[in-house]
Order: sequence, then C-alpha cells, then structure tokens
Amino acid sequence: MTTGLLLLHGFPLDSEMWASQIAGLRDTGSVVAVDLPGFGGAPLAPREGWMDAAAAAAAEALRKAGVDRAVVCGLSMGGYVAFSFWRRHRALVAGLVLANTKSGGDDEAGKQRREDLAKRVRAEGNGFLVASPPPLLSDHASPDLRLHIQRQIGRQPVEAIAIASQAMADRVDSTPVLGGIDVPTLVITSSADTLIPPEATKPMASQIPGATLAVIEGAGHLSNLEAPDEFNRLLREHLRHCG
Ligand code: MLT
Repeated sequence: MTTGLLLLHGFPLDSEMWASQIAGLRDTGSVVAVDLPGFGGAPLAPREGWMDAAAAAAAEALRKAGVDRAVVCGLSMGGYVAFSFWRRHRALVAGLVLANTKSGGDDEAGKQRREDLAKRVRAEGNGFLVASPPPLLSDHASPDLRLHIQRQIGRQPVEAIAIASQAMADRVDSTPVLGGIDVPTLVITSSADTLIPPEATKPMASQIPGATLAVIEGAGHLSNLEAPDEFNRLLREHLRHCG
C-alpha cells in the first residue's frame, strides 16, 4: 500500500503555491499537488457541487499517481476541499493537515462579498485582484514573494475565480464532522494571518479528537510560502506520525 501527500491549494492560486513543499518533501514519497477545477489549466467545474468536484479531481490525481491513501493537506480554500474529500473519499485519507483554514461556513455578509467578487471579476477581469490581492501575505513578506503571488493570480482564468468564489459562499458548515475525524490531524495557523486569523482556525484542534495544533510565528495567510522550512518540518513530522 502506497501512502502519499496530497496538497490542495488556496484561492485564487494554483498548485504552484506548493513548490517548496514538493521540492522539500520529495524524499518522503509521492507528493501530489492538484490544480483545483478551473485553476492552473485544470478543467472548470460548475458552481453547484464544485467542492465535491474538486475532491473528486484530487482523488483521481491520487489514483493516477498510484497512491492508495494520502495525508491530505489543504490550505485555506484547500481546507474547505479537504472537508469534502473527507466526506466523500474517507477511505483514501491516512491523515489530515488543515492549514490556515476554518470549518464554519460564511455568514450572509461574507456570502455577499463572494458574490460581489464573482460579479466584479466577470465584469472587469482579474486585474484588480492582481493589483490589490486579498491579504494573503504578512507585512514582512518579501517583494519577490508578493510579485510571485500576483503573477500566480494573474494567470488564473476569470471564470475559475468567479465560480470558486461562489462555491466558497455555498459551502456547508463542516464543524459537525470534526468530532468524527478519526485520522491523525494537524491544525496549522500563523500569527500574522489576517484573512483567517488564528482564533478562527485554532478551535478545530480541540474539536477534532487527538488533533495537534501548531502556530507559525510571524507568517501570514500563506504560511507554507512565508515559512516553508517550518511548514515542511511540521508536515514531515506529521507524515511520520501517520506512518
Ligand atoms: C483562500 O485563501 O483560499 C481564501 O481566501 C479563503 C477564503 O476566502 O475563505
């Protein structure tokens, strides 16, 4: 039986955001970074059922890579997909890493912001997101990293961004499933994440039986990019634990 690591990216990015994990954890076995529907050249999926389509695409990527079970690591939107993966492909899950994400759904104002973003990106294109991205990085992030992220946003198709935004608005509250998670789980947050702050992420660690909590000091929302060595160290340790 082959166990691997499955990496699920955030919004509005693609699998390239995991470059440091792919390079740094290669020696642990199969590392599979998936482009979620519409992103990074992957085919689009409709708004309805998008999260499940994303999970299905990830399961198919594991199958193609010859991986029987995986430690599933989702960051932010990738975490929302990880919950769908857990619901629909549980037999494939050897462990979970929930990074800079949360289990709850959006409130009405949050849903409206996502609809507004979808409408605007369809009307104007993605230039405004490139010029003024959401707070994905901390104030200390390097100009190079900032530029790297802006380029990554700039190459994502408008419709992928719009549909994923609406799909996040539609997502169900996954809090009720937390108590039933029975695989080793690592919850990661970072102290300078203002998009999904530590107080939104941390409660999952006490709601999931036996989960471990790690706080990366100083990193912003994309903690894997701002603190790749620390993120990889945590993943490596967790992979060993999921053995
Ligand atoms: C992400 O970084 O994937 C998204 O910003 C998450 C979200 O908007 O809820």
